[in-house]
Amino acid sequence: MAKSKVYVTRMIPEAGIELLGEMCDVEINPEDRPLARAELLENVRGRQGVIGLLGDRIDSEFFDAAQEIKGYANYAVGFDNIDVGEATRRKVPVSNTPDVLTDATAEMAWSLLFAVARRVVESDQVMRAGDWSGWGPLQFIGGDVTGKTLGILGAGRIGTAMALMSKGFKMKVLYTDSSPQKTNLVLEEELGARKVGLEELFEESDFISIHVPLRPETRHLFNAASFKKMKKTAYLINTARGPVINEADLVEALRDKEIAGAALDVYEFEPRMAEGLSILDNVVTAAHTGSATESARKNMAILAAQNLLAMLSGKRPPTCLNPEIYE
Ligand code: DGY
Repeated sequence: MAKSKVYVTRMIPEAGIELLGEMCDVEINPEDRPLARAELLENVRGRQGVIGLLGDRIDSEFFDAAQEIKGYANYAVGFDNIDVGEATRRKVPVSNTPDVLTDATAEMAWSLLFAVARRVVESDQVMRAGDWSGWGPLQFIGGDVTGKTLGILGAGRIGTAMALMSKGFKMKVLYTDSSPQKTNLVLEEELGARKVGLEELFEESDFISIHVPLRPETRHLFNAASFKKMKKTAYLINTARGPVINEADLVEALRDKEIAGAALDVYEFEPRMAEGLSILDNVVTAAHTGSATESARKNMAILAAQNLLAMLSGKRPPTCLNPEIYE
């Protein structure tokens, strides 16, 4: 039987490619850069399977180009780049990579939290520039973490993992959930965490860490009005999706000291960041590296390959986003 033709839109860790190679003819974007839209549409023609990244828009135009597609596997847990409804209408299964990057992303949120609260990047820059004059009682004074209130916006897998990691810092934990009926028993039992509404999260938290998916209702959840509700001493951490924050409003809020600081791994218009952000001292910026550990990225590749192989053989993939098409 002829092997399925698979296209991978950017090189992923070898373990996933090896797995696919056993059963499929695999072609990979040879350049380590995202494909332009026209290149993506051109390259998916005639393929039965595609593994793509969070910047690849998987919509009706994509499916029109990929007429022979039997499955699309996202190399990411977030799937706001996929029009899942359109995939379902066309009976094309689509998948993502949950679980395997949960701890890595939660750890990144903590890295950012400490970096911004303890001004690690600012003092690093002073050291590298050779500008440090020696220890001083008033230098680089930041915010305390131990005993403070951590607000988790979206206590799903990653939000829950991040909250659980706060145990050693004896923090009070507040969390939100989009479903009014749902309580996070793990957080309530392990940490005495309390579910709150958005307003209380804004007003009471010393640190807010964002873990909601990007949906119409979460876009610009953080804007000029929300920054005004937050404590002037509060910090905002985002390892989820950039557009949850109105980045232009964040620049204003940081400049006017409406909040103490922000630490971002994701941006509203990646790979760019809002004008004015890069010159502020009270922000730490990373390059969307939440899942960038050896094991997380490797396991994402394996899971994406397993998903695609299942889809190509007509089976429901392990982490399917539209399982109803198999019913
Ligand atoms: C995801 O998986 O959604 C991250 O943003 C990248 O790993």
